[in-house]
Amino acid sequence: MNLAHGLLHQLISPLLSFPLSISPKAMQFPGRWKQKDIDFCLDLTQGFIVRDRDTMVVKWKKPFSQLRCSSDDNHSWLRLEFGKSRAQHTETQEIELEELHLAVVAMECFMLAKLSNLDPGYITQTDFIPEPSP
Ligand SMILES: *[C@@H]1O[C@H](CO)[C@@H](O)[C@H](O)[C@H]1NC(C)=O
Repeated sequence: MNLAHGLLHQLISPLLSFPLSISPKAMQFPGRWKQKDIDFCLDLTQGFIVRDRDTMVVKWKKPFSQLRCSSDDNHSWLRLEFGKSRAQHTETQEIELEELHLAVVAMECFMLAKLSNLDPGYITQTDFIPEPSP
């Protein structure tokens, strides 16, 4: 996981307004899911986790590998489609996020960092540079 952690640090740092001393293994964003206050968590080893903010109960959890596609309204809503295989029908989750833009770029960074562990040449080949958040 060291390569992924280092890369994640490199990708995430420019997005934040404060310095990161250690590489993040997880980040969370406040939001709402099915009319409940939740934290939308990105976790390098576990993937996506949606946790009830009051009770900390995990509402659902999906590995990054099960994400089929994602879209957003460029304002607050993020839509994620999951499926275990191409054949299996997909499950859609919609989350309202206070910091949509940051959450989306962070999500891309986590997934790229994860991918770099499988294929270390991937990042340099694609020249990925995250857009700074507005
Ligand atoms: C998305 O939102 C940002 C900031 O809120 C804005 O600057 C940008 O123009 C929007 N993009 C589109 C395609 O509407």
